[in-house]
Amino acid sequence: MHLLTIADFSREEIDRLLKMAETVKARHKKGIPHRPLMGKTLGLIFEKSSTRTRVSFETAMYHLGGDAIFISQRDSQIGRGEPIKDTARVMSRYVDAIAIRTYGHEIIEEYAKYSTVPVINGLTDLHHPCQVLADVLTIVEKKGTYEGMKVSWIGDGNNMANSWIEAAMRLGFELILACPKGYWPHAEILKRAKAQGSNITVTENIEEAVKNADVLNTDVWASMGQEEEAEKRMRAFDGYQINSKVLGLAKKDAIVMHCLPAHRGEEITEEVLEGPNSVVWDEAENRLHIQKAILEWLLVESSR
Ligand code: CP
Ligand code: NVA
Repeated sequence: MHLLTIADFSREEIDRLLKMAETVKARHKKGIPHRPLMGKTLGLIFEKSSTRTRVSFETAMYHLGGDAIFISQRDSQIGRGEPIKDTARVMSRYVDAIAIRTYGHEIIEEYAKYSTVPVINGLTDLHHPCQVLADVLTIVEKKGTYEGMKVSWIGDGNNMANSWIEAAMRLGFELILACPKGYWPHAEILKRAKAQGSNITVTENIEEAVKNADVLNTDVWASMGQEEEAEKRMRAFDGYQINSKVLGLAKKDAIVMHCLPAHRGEEITEEVLEGPNSVVWDEAENRLHIQKAILEWLLVESSR
């Protein structure tokens, strides 16, 4: 079993992952060791930069009694053009799971096709499932449940937005995305979610998206790989910012989330990011706990 997108899991499986993450987090806080992955190794193949994803996956493996090996494109044969289908089969003979961060989603699909061990998506241009699962864990911690929540997304219809759409599709909460014209989420992903009766709206209107929201969410205007478009995007996204005025339209106890890294003064103001409604540091921490649950699930539970 692989984790390439949130849609790979059923609602029951996501609920189970959230429960497992709560348990491993509580144990970790009490200092109780939990080492179900002794003797197991995670390989990380990253073609884009990362702080949170890399460190949280490596730390998760160490806490669970296993090991992690980081492979950058630069100093492996991947960067010299060894085919993915060969790399995937060779890696599968050494490691017990592979976490991948890359560009096109078809690249990770190719890895998954040829790998005989679980492949985990650590971000592609199309999806960022581990981050959104950590975000849902954070909502459950702060709000008690994801059920009945109004979640709003302000800004780019990017990989994060697509994974949020799949989370809303599986879990049934209300999702409303405010994105400028031309920067809406992936049409097929949206269409499939809507076809399944999901409560998802896309609008250009920020007020409509944030009115009475329980959760406000945003991300950078130019993602990794879009550096050349940054100036054009800066103009297109002008106004698509979470600031105090926008926060004021949401519920009083709304939480503000950002997967980080953040560009203060662009998609979010310093005041809101550092303010009392922001949960971004807990959100970042939860990457560690949800990924421990994902690793245990893929390496132990689902192979039983
Ligand atoms: N949020 C996130 O995935 O961060 P990194 O790019 O630092 O891994
Ligand atoms: N959308 C951003 C997320 C970074 C964690 C990117 O892809 O660069």
